[in-house]
Amino acid sequence: MAYQIALNFEDGVTRFIECKPNEVVADASYRQRINIPLDCRDGACGTCKSFCESGSYDGGDYIEEAMTDDEAEQGYVLTCQMVPESDCIIRIPATSDVAKTSLSTFKGTLATIERLSDTAIGFSITLADRAGLGFLPGQYVNIMVPGTDQARSFSFSSGPTADEAGFLIRNTSHGVLTTYLRDRAQIGDAIEFNGPLGSFYLREIKRPALFLAGGTGLAPFLSMLHKIEQDGSDHPVHLIFGVTNDVDLVRIDELEGYAQRIPNFTFTCCVASEDSDYPNKGYVTRYITPEHLNSGVVDIYLCGPPPMVDAVRTFLSDEGITPASFYYEKFAGSGVVSEIGESHVKVVDSDEAFDARMALELGAAQLVIGNLSDDQITRFRQLAAATGEHIKEGRFVDPVAFRDANSAFHLFTIEATGNRTLLEAYRKLLVQEYMGHVLTPSIDLVGDITQDHVDMVEAFAVGDMERLRRIIVDHNDHAKATMRAGIEKPGSKA
Ligand code: FES
Repeated sequence: MAYQIALNFEDGVTRFIECKPNEVVADASYRQRINIPLDCRDGACGTCKSFCESGSYDGGDYIEEAMTDDEAEQGYVLTCQMVPESDCIIRIPATSDVAKTSLSTFKGTLATIERLSDTAIGFSITLADRAGLGFLPGQYVNIMVPGTDQARSFSFSSGPTADEAGFLIRNTSHGVLTTYLRDRAQIGDAIEFNGPLGSFYLREIKRPALFLAGGTGLAPFLSMLHKIEQDGSDHPVHLIFGVTNDVDLVRIDELEGYAQRIPNFTFTCCVASEDSDYPNKGYVTRYITPEHLNSGVVDIYLCGPPPMVDAVRTFLSDEGITPASFYYEKFAGSGVVSEIGESHVKVVDSDEAFDARMALELGAAQLVIGNLSDDQITRFRQLAAATGEHIKEGRFVDPVAFRDANSAFHLFTIEATGNRTLLEAYRKLLVQEYMGHVLTPSIDLVGDITQDHVDMVEAFAVGDMERLRRIIVDHNDHAKATMRAGIEKPGSKA
């Protein structure tokens, strides 16, 4: 029996290889003409270091210089040593081009076209070589539109093992693929696509999952549910399917079928239009409950238009929730995949957020210095001391507790201004969210953060604005550098 190994390259291309029992991944890959990065083949140089996102395996033999225990624990693997013991998904730190491979093209014929509503069309393709198509549920392909030289990207709505490749797309008047399907398509037409592509796919379900679908953004979730039905899930999976009008609620019978067959799966639908007769009105965020968010111990997957992605981000930030992971796929008005991402934190974004916090804090300091009562100073001192309880020997003992204590400390002077506009601007900062993604107990802190906090309070107590300004600026440098250390650390989920 062979295992299916998905190799995900940096450019979004995914290739599947078969790995025989006791075969190392690198050998299997080269046997199938995919030249993943390799040098010593002996677990000594680290050139082949990659990241295993799911699956079980024997990591093999290697030396510390090639890969540390810390890295191995985080999920790093040396593909020249790794022997899979199940199907696996491996992120290869190279482009498909470097590995001398590329997208595969799949030819087939149009099998079905289904006008599901005025706004949605489903169709499926029978492939000439179905066995040759492997993909991860949630991924997309570039479909060549027959009779044109154009391609459009759409996610599979069918499961990875379904006989036919199925799609669910938005019926727009001008879309090149929808125009073809509406006006010219005949069952049996030759049609082809290349792929699979994308990093928006279902990971191993290790904690509760929340799926948020907007309109035909339902497609990748139908594919994921197909896979979950096969594999089962030990954790609850809840889908919220939001649409604009009642007519957009398509494939509900399919969702009901999954809800009956998958014990841990539930779903909610909602309609945004004021004119709707549907009982649940409003946007998906209205139907996200604290149970779904599970205090942040949740993997969130979102597929929908860009405003929906932004609305959910804002909602999470307002709720003070940083999910364990947040995968999203944005699509343009026509329903075409336009951007795929994970909630990765970039250094530039982190720096920007912390600089903005500094700017607001300097302004708040100017407004309240000299006006804080003794009781307020006492409270401020307590908050400063509380942040130190979660740091030991230059590292975070409990990053989540630190983040909360740190937030209470920094919020103190902003709230003391009594200026609602300032407070609102402060609440919009993504500092908390970024810290939630980046901080771990293994990061070496830059500077003495606790001492900075204590010094800040004392500068307030004596009303020394110049000293306070210097401390706030230095503290910001320390905070940014600590974040940078976390973002750049190997294995950071940031
Ligand atoms: Fe050198 Fe794998 S190729 S460690």
